[in-house]
Amino acid sequence: MKRQAFITGTGHAVPEAILTNADLEKMVDTSDEWITTRTGIKTRHITDSNTATSDLATTAAARAMEAAGWKPEDVQALFIATVTPDHAFPATACLVADRLGLSRVPAWDFAAGCSGFVYGLIQARAFVESGIFDRILVIGAECLTKITNWKDRASCVLFGDGAGAAAISSQGPGGLLGGYHWGSDGAISDLLVQAAGGSRNPATHETVEAGMHYIAMNGSETFKHAVRAMRESCLLALEMDGTDKSDVDLLISHQANYRIIDATARALELPPEKVYVNIDRYGNTSSASIPIALDEAMRRGIITPPKTVVLAAFGAGLTWAGIIVKWNG
Ligand code: UT7
Repeated sequence: MKRQAFITGTGHAVPEAILTNADLEKMVDTSDEWITTRTGIKTRHITDSNTATSDLATTAAARAMEAAGWKPEDVQALFIATVTPDHAFPATACLVADRLGLSRVPAWDFAAGCSGFVYGLIQARAFVESGIFDRILVIGAECLTKITNWKDRASCVLFGDGAGAAAISSQGPGGLLGGYHWGSDGAISDLLVQAAGGSRNPATHETVEAGMHYIAMNGSETFKHAVRAMRESCLLALEMDGTDKSDVDLLISHQANYRIIDATARALELPPEKVYVNIDRYGNTSSASIPIALDEAMRRGIITPPKTVVLAAFGAGLTWAGIIVKWNG
């Protein structure tokens, strides 16, 4: 029988501290009205100076393991999608695997911007179906506020911190990882970039003074690509799955902007009640946004079988990805 991959547990973690739009009004020339109408964001959770990506990732992964009923010795591999690792190296995944008490399993990070978690699910599906692993932890974790320019009103109002995780198993019951679509276009990578700190522009006093270690985004151009790519990913993933858009029960999209989520929902002809939205509370948490939303939807009983769920993402790279997940019982 063909091997299949299932989501059998999820978890998430966000820092306690909350930054509101009213707080931001005191920091930059902005307003609650502008942020709410242009993005849908009301609050975001932000880490303190003692907390890093691995801390949030460890808690989220431990919760996913608990939900799946896994002990540390059950996990055979762990990978983390992140653009804000604790360090350039070693991989944050190695630190998290150690803190979870996993037994010397393969652990690695990868960067696919905000599409990272869906990229991770597609990789996990391939590893499980090929028989390489039976049980994998896939994590999306970010501390975007550590690389946010708090003087740039165009970007600082958007981002938040958090982590989400999924336990992927060759044994159900759970959410069957189905049809998918993923892609990238490096020709327009400059639309969303952290310009310094890597081998192209190593960190120097000059790069720091120029703010080149912060997130720089051409928002309106990125917006246009996001709408087009997410629509395409969803439709092609549905096609690969052999599922009609009228059979979709829930869309969990990357939470970057309510207007992008709404445009993706329209492409699938979904009414608002079939779209999970939490951008108002968390802002854009990049690779963590989909697994946080997925875990909330699971724990709130929104994903009770049978349910067909579409996950759709878009981010730096530029990258995009969509996957169909079916909870059949
Ligand atoms: O997560 C990965 C992928 N990221 C995305 O998908 C994000 C995509 N982009 C977006 O979500 C939106 O482009 C933004 C929310 C970033 C910006 O919204 P927008 O409707 O595209 O605004 P804009 O950048 O075109 O700016 C419109 C106006 C400008 O003023 P003028 O030139 O019209 O006078 C900006 O200076 O809004 C101004 N503005 C602000 N005003 C108050 C920009 N940021 C702010 C702000 N408060 N925070």
